[in-house]
Parts: sequence; structure tokens; C-alpha cells
Amino acid sequence: MINNITIEKFRDLATPFYYYDLEVLRSTLDVVKKESDNSGYKVHYAVKANHNARILEIISSYGFGADCVSGNEIAAAINAGFSPSDIVFAGVGKTDKDIETALKADIFCFNCESIPEIEVINHLASKQNKTAQIALRINPYIEAHTHKYITTGIEESKFGINTWEIEEVIKKLSSMKNIRMLGMHFHIGSQISRMSVFKSLCARINELQIWFTTHGINLEIINVGGGLGIDYENPDRNPLFKEYFSLINEFIDLLPGQTLHMEPGRSIVGQCGSLISRVLFIKNGSNTLFAIIDAGMTDLIRPALYQAHHKIENLTSEGNIYRYDVVGPVCESSDTFAKYIELPETRRGDIIAIRSAGAYGEVMASRYNLRDLPPSVFSDDIK
Ligand code: LLP
Repeated sequence: MINNITIEKFRDLATPFYYYDLEVLRSTLDVVKKESDNSGYKVHYAVKANHNARILEIISSYGFGADCVSGNEIAAAINAGFSPSDIVFAGVGKTDKDIETALKADIFCFNCESIPEIEVINHLASKQNKTAQIALRINPYIEAHTHKYITTGIEESKFGINTWEIEEVIKKLSSMKNIRMLGMHFHIGSQISRMSVFKSLCARINELQIWFTTHGINLEIINVGGGLGIDYENPDRNPLFKEYFSLINEFIDLLPGQTLHMEPGRSIVGQCGSLISRVLFIKNGSNTLFAIIDAGMTDLIRPALYQAHHKIENLTSEGNIYRYDVVGPVCESSDTFAKYIELPETRRGDIIAIRSAGAYGEVMASRYNLRDLPPSVFSDDIK
């Protein structure tokens, strides 16, 4: 919680910075741990959502695995205490160098997206005299009803193997001596808020299971990916883990001996982070009051890139309510965090919190305009 004591501490710190509330992170992880232990599902935290070393260490201390998309993420996960045997490696364009890193580290599984990729993994694994375990990322053609940039499982998506190619993949696999196929992998998109989307995914998975069974192929793992959304309007509300786990439990027909894996990212780290900024100037536009703050799209690109909504709070004013466009200092009109939102009367020096920024915030920061990267501050640093 950002309480008055925290706000007083913020006043002494240079802005902008990412503030991580570790109590929120831990209480979220407690719920995920309880639900996954109860159901026997294996959680691989999607490192791309936030690779901050402190955050990774806390998540790995819960015994979860990691879902990585580069050799550097694999190295960061191992450094933070994740066991290589719990790491999965995804990505539509894995480089030879990254594949070699993953093979050297003896990771659990490559989530593969095309025949040429599997051929390269087979070749590089034979050079290291190893057998690479893989899962086939299958495109299930399900509309995720989220922003089009983070929709990944429809016909036009670059991701995944088409269902009509599965037979050919299976044929090719029989001649690849350094590959062992463990199962199926899916990821249909991110920030999914309609639970019915996950129901459709489960139904599709059940159909595909029948295909594999009738072809005499035994699958050990089913990986449903990530995607569970968070409530950006209510940053203090927890993601719907209980509903999510029980939906999967009810709608996926696991076969005997199969393990279900998942890769949540945003739902684990989204609500524990806020971007903290100071108001530089209040400026009159012809019809608009601008609150110009010292954080910009270089610190948090989500509003500019996906028109994403993050709740914005003025932590240091209780005045009358006015409407503001909250904008950053970068030379781009898209450097706008919110338009025409209500805030208590806002002045130079006020401290602003942009909430629900723990996922895809700090990790997507850039140095455009040669701005500094935002540092991170943890709740227990400023107690
Ligand atoms: N697994 C795979 C294969 C993924 O591609 C992703 C996210 C995840 C798991 C984790 O999904 P999550 O649970 O976090 O939804 N930068 C965008 C989000 C991109 C997500 C990419 N893939 C944003 O800021 O909304």
C-alpha cells in the first residue's frame, strides 16, 4: 500500500522511479502458490513481464519455474535462483546463440514454433551431444479479445504451428535423433479479461488431445501459456487466480500422467509496481489543462504503444477536482499517459503515481531522447 509514510519518503527521492510493493508481490505469489499446489499445475513465471533481479529472486524463492525468451533471460533466471530444469524457452525467432545457451544450461523445454526451428535445435543439440526436449506451440485460432498488438493465436499471427502442419511435424520428428517431443504449448494473447476465452482454449486443447491420441502419440505436458489480465482501473484488486485455476481444472481433460504447465507474467507482477513521477509544470492548452510530469513514454511505453489505461493518482493533493491531460516531456504527441482525467488540483512538485506498472513497465523502458533509465525502489528499502 502507498500510505502517508511512503508518500513522505517519496518526497526525498529523485523522480521518476519504479516503486515495487513487495507485500503485494508476496501476497500475489502466496495465492498462486496455493492454487498451483492444490491443482498440481506447474507455474513458469514469464520473465519478460519483469526481469528486475530482486523481483526474480523473490519469485524463484517460491519454487516456481521460469518462461524465458532469450539467452539473457535464461542467464538472469538462473542467476536469480530458478532451476534450469524448470525453465522453458519460447520465441518465434530463437537465435543459434540463444539455443546454444539453452542447451548448455540443460533447460527443461523449448517451446517450438516451426519446422525449420526444430531442425536447427536438433542440429545444435547433436553438436553438443544432447537431446533437446521440446513442446509444439500450436496456433489454436482463438480470438483473445484484447489489444491487437498482444493477440497471438489467430490466423494472421506469426506465432505457433498451424494445426494442418502438425502431421508433417510429427513425421519429421521421427528422423530427428536429438529431439524428444514432450507435449503441446499455447499462448493466445495477453491482458485477457474474458474468462470465456480461456474456456475456448481448453475446448480446443481437448480436441487436439484426441488427434494425438488417435495417432498413438503420448503427450506428457500441456502448457497453456499466460494471458490472465489484471484490473487496471482497480490497482488494489488481485487478479482472478482462483477463477482461472478452477476454470482450467474444470474444462481441460488431462490424460493420466499428464502435467499442466502455465506461464503467467502480468498477473504476477502487474499490481505490485507503480511509476512514481513529479509534476514539472501545469500548462494551459486551448481547451485542455496539461499536467506535464517528469516521467515519459521512455519510462512506461504502454499508453503510447497500446493506448493502455493506467490509473493515475496525485499523491500529494486533496484540492478541488479538475480535468487534466497527463503528459510526459518527450518530443512526441503520443507521450501522453491519460487524457481528460479527473485529479485533485495539481501543482508543480506534486507526486504522481501511475499504477499497475509492474508488468511490461521497467523492462520496456528505453533511452530515447537520451533520457536516463528509471531506477527501482523497493518497499523495504524505504521502511
Ligand atoms: N507465454 C508466452 C509465450 C508469451 O508470449 C507471454 C507474453 C506470456 C507467456 C506471458 O503473458 P502474460 O501472462 O504476461 O499476459 N508488452 C505487452 C505484453 C506482451 C506479452 C507478450 N507475451 C503489454 O505491455 O501489454
